[in-house]
Amino acid sequence: MIETRGLTKWYGEFLALNHLDLKLEEGDLFGFIGPNGAGKTTTMKILATLLTPSEGQAFVGGVNVVDHPEEIRTMVGYMPDFFGVYREMRVSEYLAFFAAAYRVPGKERQRVVGDLLALVDLESKADETVGALSRGMQQRLGLARALVHDPKVLILDEPASGLDPRARVEVREILKELSAMGKTIILSSHILPELANVCNRVGIIAQGQLRACGSIDYVAAQVAPPRIHARVRETEPPAESGPEEDGLAQHFVTASAAVESLRQNLGCEVALGDEDHPGMIMVTPGGHGEVGPGQVAQALLQGGFELAYLEPVNPSLEEVFLHLTQDLGLGQSPVEES
Ligand SMILES: Nc1ncnc2c1ncn2[C@@H]1O[C@H](COP(=O)(O)OP(=O)(O)OP(=O)(O)O)[C@@H](O)[C@H]1O
Ligand SMILES: [Mg+2]
Repeated sequence: MIETRGLTKWYGEFLALNHLDLKLEEGDLFGFIGPNGAGKTTTMKILATLLTPSEGQAFVGGVNVVDHPEEIRTMVGYMPDFFGVYREMRVSEYLAFFAAAYRVPGKERQRVVGDLLALVDLESKADETVGALSRGMQQRLGLARALVHDPKVLILDEPASGLDPRARVEVREILKELSAMGKTIILSSHILPELANVCNRVGIIAQGQLRACGSIDYVAAQVAPPRIHARVRETEPPAESGPEEDGLAQHFVTASAAVESLRQNLGCEVALGDEDHPGMIMVTPGGHGEVGPGQVAQALLQGGFELAYLEPVNPSLEEVFLHLTQDLGLGQSPVEES
């Protein structure tokens, strides 16, 4: 439904988008995630026909955005990151105005406005002036505005920015509803966890390049290999310890020895859990994932330890985000789910 091929944008000497290849299927709710200045707004403006690319192509519904901007605008609803609001207008007039601008027939406008106000839960504010709405309400009004011509595709630039947690949840619910209506949605954010439970796919962008793309689980697993958590059973107490030796202390002795042994054998980071995970051995594989659960189990057994527990643990979304958006230098190829 949305595709970019080698999409590139120079602002003068500055390369803001560097050969971006994106592909969204119909019905996708796609999270476009990256730090400030990554190129999210640039990409979205190109897709919304508000900016022309320097190189490469972009298509919505198979239509080239540069060649057929009028056609694209009927298909796409765009919500900018900052939108000038007409503060003196009443909420219902505001939506009716944009409906007219998008050539919604006069006799349908009232119904369209009513439906949209219901969707974004602003019915009670229909007669207020736009300027009297809170930030969150204005944001929802912006969403309604992007929907006046019932577009198939929604391009939403940071729809949840500046909202309190409750308003964020509300926006998320509206997005789920729109997705269930069959719309293809691309939305941007700085925050990966925020999108984790709404988006079916995410793309992570930094310095104008796509760093990873796919389901959140896929991206997480590809980018930072899972940690391995393990526990070992107590071995025979050393001869010098008395019969009243504390069992937990003994446990630590065994676990510490196992940590030391793993460090030497695996050559990667191995830590012993703190009071939250007493006795837990936590192995962080190197960047290339050559250390897996099998290697950990084998190394422990060879070291004479008895394995009690072993589990791969996926990195947190914050860790994934930091890992992907760090300065890798140019020329890095993205991790992409097939
Ligand atoms: N009109 C412009 N002229 C010059 N440089 C620009 C222009 N617009 C954007 N840039 C630069 O291009 C890069 C990408 O900007 P863009 O707005 O696409 O980033 P973003 O991912 O949307 O960031 P943010 O999260 O802060 O909104 C930034 O370094 C920005 O400074
Ligand atoms: Mg932006």
